[in-house]
Amino acid sequence: MVAETAVNPDSLVYPMFVVEGENVKEEIPSMPNQYRFSIDEILKELESCVALGVKSILLFGIPSYKDEMASSAYDDDGIVQRAVRSIKAKFPELYVITDVCLCEYMSHGHCGIVKEDGDVDNDPTLELLAKTALSHAEAGADMVAPSDMMDGRVAAIREKLDANGFTNLPIMAYSAKFASAYYGPFRDAADSAPHFGDRKSYQMDVRNGREALHEVELDLEEGADIVMVKPGLAFLDILRETAEMSNVPVAVYNVSGEYSMVKAAAQNGWINEDAIIRENLIAFKRAGADIIITYHAKEALEKGLLK
Ligand code: PBG
Ligand code: ZN
Repeated sequence: MVAETAVNPDSLVYPMFVVEGENVKEEIPSMPNQYRFSIDEILKELESCVALGVKSILLFGIPSYKDEMASSAYDDDGIVQRAVRSIKAKFPELYVITDVCLCEYMSHGHCGIVKEDGDVDNDPTLELLAKTALSHAEAGADMVAPSDMMDGRVAAIREKLDANGFTNLPIMAYSAKFASAYYGPFRDAADSAPHFGDRKSYQMDVRNGREALHEVELDLEEGADIVMVKPGLAFLDILRETAEMSNVPVAVYNVSGEYSMVKAAAQNGWINEDAIIRENLIAFKRAGADIIITYHAKEALEKGLLK
């Protein structure tokens, strides 16, 4: 009667990885019970997800080729574009969000075009991101989620979508995205680790909360429909402050490293896994998240860990 917090099952977003091929369901070594699925297999997996109440997914693609212009990211025949078409044809009610970034599609693993001196070139990257978002929209994505952290990308994507008739397609911006070590397992999963340097020139310094809030403000000005804080657990203060200042819904990304730590400790019998999952999800909600992106989504629904 007096419980203050419960997670709305409809506000969970389940991230999934899709790869080329057929009959592929390959477990990600550093993320127990998470898989790279080929399109035929993701369709099978989604049957059980939808039956359990998963309402929305966030799709990441692992392409068949990489180059220095991330061509496979905006290829109409690319892995995400084909996956979205197949998923929306079979599950029209499922809300499909696509990750818009270039690191999985770049031969060097950075989120943007790399100049000769090794720096990421912000402005020319914007056009590629906008093209990628548009190709996802044309494939039938319900929302696009730019995770690259280039300056001005929300405005560039908004403009491109509007100019092509997608005025109502929302943008969920990874706004306060920190240069975090918690993304390690994801980079194994998506094969997107940078081959040189790091992402500190475009992602946020973990020491700087005020600067992160400024990034949120910029994304709001550029027209973000949802703003995101990422990672979650070590950044609950930023999540709370973002929730207080934002006039649009706030998402949190319970990232791969957070997931893998829970799984590893659980496999060792060191923690009560279900109780920890519940506690973490409730913490996000209590801190102010409207939307929780989590690899625990399916099991949390299955086991009823939301209140
Ligand atoms: C791509 C991207 C990353 C994540 C989401 N989109 C990795 C990164 O920025 O290196 C991390 C997700 C996770 O760790 O679960 N830019
Ligand atoms: Zn990236």
